Formats: sequence, structure tokens, C-alpha cells
Amino acid sequence: MLKMKDILDEKDKRLRLVSKDVEFPLSEKEKKTIEEMIEFLRNSQIPELSEKYDLRPGMGLSAIQLGIAKRYFVVVNELDPGEFETYVLINPKIISNSVEKIYVEAGEGCLSVNRDVDGIIPRYARVTMEGYDIEGRKIHVRAREELAICFQHEMDHLNGILFMDHIDKKNPFKDKDIYRAI
Ligand code: NI
Repeated sequence: MLKMKDILDEKDKRLRLVSKDVEFPLSEKEKKTIEEMIEFLRNSQIPELSEKYDLRPGMGLSAIQLGIAKRYFVVVNELDPGEFETYVLINPKIISNSVEKIYVEAGEGCLSVNRDVDGIIPRYARVTMEGYDIEGRKIHVRAREELAICFQHEMDHLNGILFMDHIDKKNPFKDKDIYRAI
């Protein structure tokens, strides 16, 4: 079972690697890692379990955050309390996006960044992703709002980018009136 200590901290240089494409079929080990990532994210969003296992709540996790430089990530989105939808995207690409951009007013978070970081990060309000599922079948996923932001945040991880890289150091709230806050 994954714990917080298994997740790389922002100071770890491996988070700066550009991850490599996954080859199919996945190994049993890779499938097990994906199952563990899903379990971790679910547990982290269930208050009793996040407390029990000392997990910070997280919605997305990329393989590189476990030190695995492969292009895949997992997103667990809570629709209603205790009701989750799970996305596993392997070798993902954003194939279309809205013109409109939005940002998380409270600031983005990341399981690898254990501190609050102020500033806005404009993200597409809607994206269509293309990728592969665990069995290597091509999939398309449309996302909007928070889920769309999460996908873009995870896509960045695959390219060695952390969310705060996008924040203007001198003026963290620059352009805040140009984009829509969520
Ligand atoms: Ni992150």
C-alpha cells in the first residue's frame, strides 16, 4: 500500500525528468502500481482513511511522483461524498482545448508540494484527452472545470513541470481578472 513517504518531494530532481512512453502490454508490476495509485487517491479523499493512513488529499498522481519516469497518470474524482470516478491515462495527449482559461482561486495543490503556494495558473477550461487504457485500447476523455485542470496538471508532471513553474514570481496574481476563477 502506498504511503506519503513513497511520493517524491518537490526537491527531488526526478520530478524534472521528461517521462518516456509506456510500451504495451503492461507488466503485472505496472498494473499493480496503477491499482495502488488508485487506492491511494481514493483513500486520501475519504476522511477516515486519510487520517488513519496520514495521507494528504489528492485527486491526481503521475508515475514520476513515485520515481517511475513513464507517461501515465491516475485521477480519482469525487462526484458525491464517497462516490468516485477513476481515470487511468497512458501515453496521454491533449488533442483539443477551449479558448477560455480558468484558474483555481484557492491555488493548485500537488502531493509532491507540501506547502501552500500563492498565485494563479491559467488552464484551459475544457480539454479533450486521447490516451490508452490499461489494456492498451485507445480512449478519449472530455473534461471541464476542475477535472480539466487536474488533467493539465498531471500532463505537466509527465514533462517535468510543477504547477508553481507557471506562476509569475514577481506578480503571482498577474492577469487574475482576465481568466475565470473556479
Ligand atoms: Ni502534482
